[in-house]
Amino acid sequence: MSVPNSTQQSDPSRIMQIGMGFWASKLLLVAIKFELFTLLASQKSGAGAIKEKLGLRTTDQHVFDFLDGLVSLGFLEREGILEKAIYSNSPDSNIFLDKKKPSYSGGILEMANNRLYEFWGHLEQGLLTGEAQNETKGAGNMNFFEDLYKSPEKLREFMNAMSAIQAGNFISLVRQFPFSNYSSLVDVGGADASFSIQVAAKHPRMHCISFDLPAVEPLAKAKIRQAGLEDRISFSGGDFFKDPIPRGEVISMGNILHGCNEEIKLQLIQRVFEALPGNGVFIAIENIIDDERRKNTFGMLMSLNMLIENGDGFDYTFRQFESWVKKAGFKKAEIIPLTGPTSAAIAYK
Ligand SMILES: C[S@@+](CC[C@H](N)C(=O)[O-])C[C@H]1O[C@@H](n2cnc3c(N)ncnc32)[C@H](O)[C@@H]1O
Repeated sequence: MSVPNSTQQSDPSRIMQIGMGFWASKLLLVAIKFELFTLLASQKSGAGAIKEKLGLRTTDQHVFDFLDGLVSLGFLEREGILEKAIYSNSPDSNIFLDKKKPSYSGGILEMANNRLYEFWGHLEQGLLTGEAQNETKGAGNMNFFEDLYKSPEKLREFMNAMSAIQAGNFISLVRQFPFSNYSSLVDVGGADASFSIQVAAKHPRMHCISFDLPAVEPLAKAKIRQAGLEDRISFSGGDFFKDPIPRGEVISMGNILHGCNEEIKLQLIQRVFEALPGNGVFIAIENIIDDERRKNTFGMLMSLNMLIENGDGFDYTFRQFESWVKKAGFKKAEIIPLTGPTSAAIAYK
């Protein structure tokens, strides 16, 4: 049988790589769950010692496959082979995946393993029904956050995940935005106060309020205390759908609007507008999708993650943001790219 020319030049490897990508994803997530990188940060080890320390009961062959798979993906390094192999972390794994280092960034990946991996297995049902596929599935009117936060472990895991995914963005925004022109910030849905801490640490004139659900207060207060910024950052407990948004010259929302449908987005933006003074600024820190919707893959997948988590929440382009803030009465909007897929969408009153 002859094969058409166009097929001879084509290559299915990318299709296969993405289609089977969940194998590699799960391999990394399991290694993080087992704290393999934390173990190897303290000591290079052979496969036998790793097998024993992690309590693996599989065959030696599959332990080699597990470890060498991570070598082939660049997350581990190896000297020797099989029984003679000595495994160590790659430089990036050593910095970002060792739980004992402050640079640990595995929080979001722990949550990906413990929650999202399973829920994303139901993406087709999400697309077919438009309904959330997480813990709230089939649970009537359950409130996602209130329910999640009943478990102290899940609360901590969620907070760590949020600060891990946003850390670089907060640092970048604090460097790029002229906070020194302002004296107060209210971070709505501020989680463990990570953003307020970054702003207050760099700008000694700034007083910040981190506003979030009351369940978050102990974790946020502990972080503020740890940073030694209790005199300039306070925590305010409340529900941003029902309670007044505290007043401030700058009001920020990191990954908040994307959790809501368009009607609720508009209501929240309007309430932010009312809480700002005449020269006030609203900053949304999200995975703003490029206007042509061709490039920001992570932003579009995050939007589908909002389908999985909330049903009708969605991520958006800067053009959409601009039209919403103008409707609310803001004069002007701009966008500042932060790290990777994330940007700050900024509206001036
Ligand atoms: C996706 S996280 C984003 C956290 C943080 N702003 C960031 O950028 O990483 C959403 C945050 O909003 C808070 N939150 C959710 N619903 C809320 C509500 N109704 N009122 C106040 N805070 C809420 C959650 O507790 C959580 O900290």
